[in-house]
Amino acid sequence: QQLQMNLEQIEKGGYDHFMLKEIYEQPSVIKDTYRGRLHANKGMIQMAGVEDNIDKFTNANRILIVACGTSWHAGLVAEYIFEEFSRIPVEVEYASEFRYRNPIIYPDDVVIAISQSGETADTLAAIKLAKEKGAFVFGVCNVVGSSISRETHAGAYTHAGPEIGVASTKAFTTQITVLTMMALRLAKAKGTMNTSDYQRYLLELELIPEKVEEALQTNEVAKMIASIYKSAPNCLYLGRGYNFPVALEGALKLKEISYIHAEGYPAAEMKHGPIALIDEHMPIVVIAPKQNHYDKVVSNIQEIKARSGKIIAVVTKGDTQVRALADHVIEIPDTAEALTPLLTTIPLQLLSYHIAVMRECNVDQPRNLAKSVTVE
Ligand code: AGP
Repeated sequence: QQLQMNLEQIEKGGYDHFMLKEIYEQPSVIKDTYRGRLHANKGMIQMAGVEDNIDKFTNANRILIVACGTSWHAGLVAEYIFEEFSRIPVEVEYASEFRYRNPIIYPDDVVIAISQSGETADTLAAIKLAKEKGAFVFGVCNVVGSSISRETHAGAYTHAGPEIGVASTKAFTTQITVLTMMALRLAKAKGTMNTSDYQRYLLELELIPEKVEEALQTNEVAKMIASIYKSAPNCLYLGRGYNFPVALEGALKLKEISYIHAEGYPAAEMKHGPIALIDEHMPIVVIAPKQNHYDKVVSNIQEIKARSGKIIAVVTKGDTQVRALADHVIEIPDTAEALTPLLTTIPLQLLSYHIAVMRECNVDQPRNLAKSVTVE
């Protein structure tokens, strides 16, 4: 028993839970994921699975993304990135819906299947269906030799290492890293991004691990905020643009490990109903980096404040406008708008982790959940 305990302690690398260890591994596994693929000083991205099939991607009229859960959220981030960088229309589908709705799939569609475990039954079924209809299917998986990695025509592995915590963290950020590199490579192949922007993104992507390191410094602030809101019955997460999927992901993290009901929403959507939920008991996490939508997010925050909502804002370091309005601010480093999800998600992972620990939940194995949903 004691030996078993010690072995677990060693496996957790001294962290109290696998989830916390995996949150802190993100700087190094993001670097592992782009190592050998991102060559910023040469202005190059080298991904064999993409290179060997570059014509399928450049000739594609549409990219369909199929995934579940957190991987589906990574797909939503990818939709914004692929459409902005490479001007290819993207549709993101829940694999479980896609597989049963007799979807329209054209032979020149490219399907990207995202799965940490590579064993998710719904995603595997969606892949098989897409292949039957003649589409080219590309996998983004974290487990070498997994069913999905074998079933897809080509793919690119995330190099996150084994993700033990049921709540996905480092898989999410390494999936976004792979998808960002793919979108940049396609932008270069299609000529939809000028060379200076392309080079700027490569260099900024190379800086992300140290910026994630800096975002991890918000741990103590996140822990303090968690102690205030650990008993909240509900929580709302709001974001715009690239950070709308991050709002969904932050809400999922809180739901699945602390069992608090949480919902992610596009910030502008509040006035179409959900704002009725807001009163002085409702904590609202607002993702408000200093980017394109900033002014609109600030006005969303003012709307919430007018209804006495408690505002927890994730802001760019040095922010003053949101700081004057919010009840709590968590500062993260600045980066290119398209790369903000890699940073804004960090404090949300830490916030949900600390709330779950304070609620004495089983953080690594939450009730009712499995790490890989290999059945329907
Ligand atoms: C995320 O924290 C959950 N563990 C779950 O939603 C997961 O993302 C989903 O089941 C998909 O798993 P996969 O990435 O292994 O396919």
